[in-house]
Amino acid sequence: MDSFEWLNGYKVGFGLHHVDFNNPNRPRTPKYSAHYYYQVMKDNGFPLTEDEKMIYGHFRKEFIWSTATASYQIEGGWRADGKGLSIWDKFAHTPLKVFNDDNGDIACDSYNKIDEDVAILKQLKVTHYRFFISWSRVLPDGTTSHINEAGLSYYDRLVKALLAANIQPHITLYHWDLPQALQDIGGWENDDIVGKFRDYADLIFSRLGHNVKHWITINEPYNIAMVGHGYGVAAPGINFRPGTLPYIVGHNLIKAHAEVWHLYNDKYRAVQKGIISITINSDWSEPRNPYKQEDIDAARRVVQFYIGWFAHPIYNGDYSDVMKTIIRERSLAAGLTKSRLPEFTPDEIKRIKGTYDYFGFNHYTTVLAFPVNFGDLSHYDADRQARTVVDRTWLDSGSGWLKITPFGFRRILNFIKEEYGNPPIIITENGVSERGPIDLNDNHRTYHYEKYINQVLKAYLQDNVDIRGYTAWSLMDNLEWATGFSERFGLFYVNHSDPNVPRVKKASVSTYSTIISCNGFPDPASGPHDCLKPEPEGKLI
Ligand code: BGC
Repeated sequence: MDSFEWLNGYKVGFGLHHVDFNNPNRPRTPKYSAHYYYQVMKDNGFPLTEDEKMIYGHFRKEFIWSTATASYQIEGGWRADGKGLSIWDKFAHTPLKVFNDDNGDIACDSYNKIDEDVAILKQLKVTHYRFFISWSRVLPDGTTSHINEAGLSYYDRLVKALLAANIQPHITLYHWDLPQALQDIGGWENDDIVGKFRDYADLIFSRLGHNVKHWITINEPYNIAMVGHGYGVAAPGINFRPGTLPYIVGHNLIKAHAEVWHLYNDKYRAVQKGIISITINSDWSEPRNPYKQEDIDAARRVVQFYIGWFAHPIYNGDYSDVMKTIIRERSLAAGLTKSRLPEFTPDEIKRIKGTYDYFGFNHYTTVLAFPVNFGDLSHYDADRQARTVVDRTWLDSGSGWLKITPFGFRRILNFIKEEYGNPPIIITENGVSERGPIDLNDNHRTYHYEKYINQVLKAYLQDNVDIRGYTAWSLMDNLEWATGFSERFGLFYVNHSDPNVPRVKKASVSTYSTIISCNGFPDPASGPHDCLKPEPEGKLI
């Protein structure tokens, strides 16, 4: 227990138990370490936990094996062929010139490199490729008043090149790069955007839809709502929207998604026969101290305010009671007459509920939650009444927010199954970054993919979660938004010092393509397995 520490008196506590020296009874309370040490003694050491054990087995037949990129992060060509300005062009090409290369352009020049990109996709052996359409490349001012045929033709050629290589396109309509002209009239804060997004989607379905079977309306509404990409030049991408604005943006995003789902459902589905959903991202959250009820409650709130904010209205109907109750109570207590969380009308609740064909899910990491009382402040953290930290023992990546925590993946997949009616799930992003000197021998990425995908296999085989596909983020190193090219998520390295920006494979390419060829993790005891044999170099492309 904490005790008298010589010259340091009672200031330094070595105890497994805390002692309250202000209380005459000197009560002892076990710390987390006491529980931990108890377990070590009980196990008489450190047996592999369920979380750590790898399992063998296969994913379902017809599993979607994919990788992803996003238009703004790879395309470049921001002044090409009549493209309109997006909020990210405006930021990245300001006098700060944060990300400009010598040509005054950025990214991986995918706009001019369809053949190269398809070649590396073939090398990976993916069955699908998830990419995004740049709204302002197709509709320069965001509206259908002017269609940029040259921009549209790029996507049409990309889709055809993929199909010729036997790779199915999985297209997302919106990934953060809003046409600047729409930002100028309020962007996602102005509900006019719902109709504009619908018109844009209508054009894309009508022009590309006959060749596309998988669609996503919006990527990661959480990030769009929280992060004000249109706020100021200093740091869009890391500027949080103030106060209550995230809820207003979130509301418009949910409505915009629902309208586009209905549009596809009513007008295109019968002929084009595709499926369409939204991609929701979320961390998993564990209590900081699993023995403290208040931390367990905080972890629940964090998840409900994260994945639940968008998933609840779409999969279950309306915002969750947790969000509605807490935000209403805190709003009234602050003297407002109604909740800061906008309300859906009963008709809207009905129209939004069920607007999905699968659950598109992006996941990277886990956090530890604990309660914090922010008084009557009116921002998101204050409403969810929690803060999060990470465990210092978790493996790092190239991104401060991303710790390698495979165990959380299986848990949040189970959460989706339990909470949202066991929907079919397509994992639409998962991956890890590195920073610093280039090292093509990216062992940590190999480790990441093996461990995370194995957790997905556990969720599928052992927990009966209905998992239909997995998408590795990212095909190649690309523009990691406000952090530029310094955080690299790619399976392929992109050499920006060469004007041809060649793509060079990293070691993890063979790990991922082997998992794809094996459709999982075959048991070595029942081997040898052909899928585990490396392909001879040179045969790959
Ligand atoms: C986004 C990607 C981003 C990745 C890594 C996801 O949230 O969809 O655009 O590059 O995370 O930060």
